Amino acid sequence: MPQTVKGVISRSKGVPVELTDIVIPDPGPGEVIVDVKSCGVCHTDFHYREGGVSDDFPFLLGHESAGVVSEVGEGVTSVEVGDFVILNWRAICGDCRACKRGEPWYCFDTHNASQKMTLTDGTELEPALGIGSFAEKTLVAEGQCTKVREADPAVVGLLGCGVMAGIGAAINTGEVTRGKTVAVIGCGGVGCASIAGSALAGAGTIIALDIDEKKLDWAKDLGATDVVNTKGMSEDEVVSAIQERTGGFGADVVVDAVGRPETWRQAFYGRDLAGTVVLVGVPTPEMELTVPLADVFGRGGRLKSSWYGDCLPERDFPMLVDLYEQGRLPLDKFVSERIGIADVEPAFDKMNAGQVLRSVVEF
Ligand SMILES: NC(=O)c1ccc[n+]([C@@H]2O[C@H](COP(=O)([O-])OP(=O)(O)OC[C@H]3O[C@@H](n4cnc5c(N)ncnc54)[C@H](O)[C@@H]3O)[C@@H](O)[C@H]2O)c1
Ligand SMILES: [Zn+2]
Ligand SMILES: [Zn+2]
Repeated sequence: MPQTVKGVISRSKGVPVELTDIVIPDPGPGEVIVDVKSCGVCHTDFHYREGGVSDDFPFLLGHESAGVVSEVGEGVTSVEVGDFVILNWRAICGDCRACKRGEPWYCFDTHNASQKMTLTDGTELEPALGIGSFAEKTLVAEGQCTKVREADPAVVGLLGCGVMAGIGAAINTGEVTRGKTVAVIGCGGVGCASIAGSALAGAGTIIALDIDEKKLDWAKDLGATDVVNTKGMSEDEVVSAIQERTGGFGADVVVDAVGRPETWRQAFYGRDLAGTVVLVGVPTPEMELTVPLADVFGRGGRLKSSWYGDCLPERDFPMLVDLYEQGRLPLDKFVSERIGIADVEPAFDKMNAGQVLRSVVEF
């Protein structure tokens, strides 16, 4: 029997989100219903609400979650009812060009549930990142459930998106290793996770840059060795600030966790020759970038984007939960506040005002 539960939707562009009834169909073949226990408020949910991702309104928002499997459809073998899982938006297909060449973190055909959740009038909902978990229950594909050892859902659920994206941007995409110099531009949940990931990997100098002093305090707490408030600085001044802290050269790896043309250029010029730029912040469709091609050639190195921190959920989630439980990765520091499902819109305001690293809805 289809079930009706409460969920947070974005009905149209730029309008506050609504808490409403949503209908979850019975799980079909390869599908799973999860009792959602937590869902972090990610900037990407706000991008959806602003029409910055697509125009496929209405969206069922939310995608950074942990929960417990409550029903499984036909043929589901990798999880069973009662399993504690973190939801992921990279259920690899195993069969596409990327998967076949041994780079499944680029999978071009990731799986989501085939059925849609709907409003009570039958209107189909587009789930954010194929998840949609600002809801008491959600319907996902089997591969979107990664089984991990039980831990505080509000904390480990953050691995489902932003924190994994940030850690992975540093250690998977940027290949930060011991002794490397790293600069992270933008120290929200994602940037701070890049800092924590860099610290975990043994980076030497870790420079945090943000226009908000509070974020810099958090960055320091998560492992930044240097902090720079770039408010009011020109692009050149930001680059100089990175160079001054890296022997005049620039950082080996610069992570842009904002995703704007000016922050990307700061990353591009703030890295050492032959260094690496990692773009993990998500630009909006109208943004364009101008850089002299001669500089792209002349400075060499690697200019990369990082979707989801190039993670493999099955490999990375259990490992990072273990590191958290061992006290080696302070994931709990990312939870700034625990809120109810009716408080997503005020949480967007707090996020945009820079008051929180992550607000997490608990169910
Ligand atoms: N690539 C991925 O897989 C992935 C996954 C999750 C989120 N994201 C994206 O990462 C970005 C960051 O997400 P978040 O949740 O940390 O957001 P957030 O709003 O919490 O953090 C953004 C931070 O950037 C700072 N900032 C803004 N403009 C700046 C500038 N010009 N210079 C320096 N700092 C500046 C803000 O003060 C804030 O601290 C977003 O674009 C989000 O959509 C990407
Ligand atoms: Zn694939
Ligand atoms: Zn996210």
